[in-house]
Amino acid sequence: MFNLDPIKKGDQLVSHFEDIQMDYYQRGDERHKQFPLSFLEWEGKAREVLAAGPFGYVYGGAGHGETMEANLRGFCQYRIRPRVCCDVTMRDIGIKLFGHESKVPFLLAPIGVNSIFHVDAELAPAKAAKKLGVPYVLSHVASTAMEKISEIMGDALRWFQLYPPKNEELTQSFLQRAEKSGFAAIVVTVDSTLLGWREADLRNAYLPFMEGHGMANYFTDPVFLSLLEHPPDNELKAAVLKALDEGNNMCFTWKQFEFIRRNTKLPLLIKGVTHPHDALLAIEYGADGIVVSNHGGRQLDGAIGTMEALPSIVNAVNDKVPILLDGGIRHGADIIKAIALGAKAVQIGRPYIYGLSVAGQAGVEQVILNLMAETELQLAISGKAQISEVDGSLIWNIHDPL
Ligand code: FNR
Repeated sequence: MFNLDPIKKGDQLVSHFEDIQMDYYQRGDERHKQFPLSFLEWEGKAREVLAAGPFGYVYGGAGHGETMEANLRGFCQYRIRPRVCCDVTMRDIGIKLFGHESKVPFLLAPIGVNSIFHVDAELAPAKAAKKLGVPYVLSHVASTAMEKISEIMGDALRWFQLYPPKNEELTQSFLQRAEKSGFAAIVVTVDSTLLGWREADLRNAYLPFMEGHGMANYFTDPVFLSLLEHPPDNELKAAVLKALDEGNNMCFTWKQFEFIRRNTKLPLLIKGVTHPHDALLAIEYGADGIVVSNHGGRQLDGAIGTMEALPSIVNAVNDKVPILLDGGIRHGADIIKAIALGAKAVQIGRPYIYGLSVAGQAGVEQVILNLMAETELQLAISGKAQISEVDGSLIWNIHDPL
């Protein structure tokens, strides 16, 4: 098995993750029989093991998928320009986020309804994240209540993502529960106050919430339960419709964001920002961090890709708060490019859900391990030893003159 502790030569740290690559060379075929390797192989395997509804739910995007594609293509606008003859013996891809150490410059993005992908639902990524030292962002629409996640994660770093409900008392209740359960930050997702036009789900007539998936945080909330005429066990459909109605918060504005700010002491991030003016407004209304995201292209088809949006946001924010990015992160190179462009960290989405679908916790772990190893290698081969040394000088925009 791998050694995930820092690998040292004498007293010096050499690498965190080089054992992972060695393990492949030593028993590659055996490993490969057990798990897929590339993103496309994981996706293909997930397609085989999942029914059409759940697979379409994770694979699909809004409309004809232009934004989903723009996320991926955004990385191809940049090339890494490596430096050579640099000492990269001692390598470290660890970062610090709001005072907490993370071994890697990525988090597991909030992704709801994990029970449609695997029986262990969110417990699997939470356990994998804890074991490997990766921060986990639990979705508001998880199939596992936040208190259960807390129980199994202990001291491990986790954040809670909120789809802001209309009801203020309910909002306060979610915030208080997250705080009490040891979540270290709140991420408010603001790009989904109504559901995008997702053709795969429409074709499959598939909305997992209607079957009760993704409702655990609502159905364990005392304020939410007090709003129902009958408990969810007796009237599932009415309870689900009430939760969806709270989440379809179309009148959410900066005023409500400010309300959330006033009601939590935790660091507050806003997720779903792609316009520099919104980034500045978010800071004005109390955000401590910005997640540049378009929900993996699942909300507004034709919207700007996240790597396309990042430079103008970095420029406007001017280091006032950390910026994170998600959408299309599939390889170590993507992580290096996003960080070079000014992101502090990135979030991994679909890749870990394919790992979960194929092999539960072990699948999520494998996806994470490969990304750790690849990122560290990419960094070193670029001529950098520490992720903190990565900046704009490491990449070249293919549209700029050399
Ligand atoms: C998501 N995403 C998401 N975001 C969020 O804030 N709360 C949520 O509950 C979910 N749920 C969700 C389900 C599924 C199946 C997917 C694919 C995505 C968006 C997610 O956090 C992230 O922004 C994207 O996944 C990033 O895009 P890629 O890298 O997965 O393509």
